[in-house]
Amino acid sequence: MDTCEPAVLKLLVVGVLVNALMMRGLSAAGRVNIEPIPPKQTTACNESRLQWEVEVCGEDFKQDMAHIDPQYWCNLTYFISEYHFFTLCTENRSHILQCYWPNPLVEGYIIHIHKHFFSNCTMPQVVWVDPPDDMLVILILIPIFLTFAMIALVVWCSRRSDILA
Ligand SMILES: *[C@@H]1O[C@H](CO)[C@@H](O)[C@H](O)[C@H]1NC(C)=O
Ligand SMILES: *[C@@H]1O[C@H](CO)[C@@H](O)[C@H](O)[C@H]1NC(C)=O
Ligand SMILES: *[C@@H]1O[C@H](CO)[C@@H](O)[C@H](O)[C@H]1NC(C)=O
Repeated sequence: MDTCEPAVLKLLVVGVLVNALMMRGLSAAGRVNIEPIPPKQTTACNESRLQWEVEVCGEDFKQDMAHIDPQYWCNLTYFISEYHFFTLCTENRSHILQCYWPNPLVEGYIIHIHKHFFSNCTMPQVVWVDPPDDMLVILILIPIFLTFAMIALVVWCSRRSDILA
């Protein structure tokens, strides 16, 4: 055995780490959907029940918002605690019903709420900014490059051990 094997191992570890970080970053940016590994569930999520519960949260939020002058509906400062309470409510109801949170149903409802209250807001306050496209290309190319480097190194190492043998 020579210095080849540790080099392959190191590259492999770096590659796996970079890939994992990248996927997390991309998934946070909404570019790639990674299904979380589901924990064991005793009962299945009852979606019709969840829909109903989440609408109760929404009704509470609507009542809270009714106490705030609509001219301030685009300024998060005025309703941050109500909004926080609303998301917390959807989270609690999801957990009680053994549903994942966030989930497509809850997200759909939150979008519905946003459309109702914030459709006229010109200054988006809660916006997930995607990385600029050239940055994204670099982020995607790094693991591809690492994969090729790994393959090349493995091939090179096996050739070398063939020659040495
Ligand atoms: C889901 O909840 C609804 C409303 O509470 C209920 O009528 C229905 O039987 C439930 N479905 C299941 C599969 O438990
Ligand atoms: C929101 O309201 C706060 C308090 O009145 C104010 O300081 C802030 O500048 C407002 N933000 C926007 C984006 O209008
Ligand atoms: C948005 O603007 C439209 C047209 O001006 C108005 O009818 C609607 O009530 C407004 N919605 C909100 C949430 O302010």
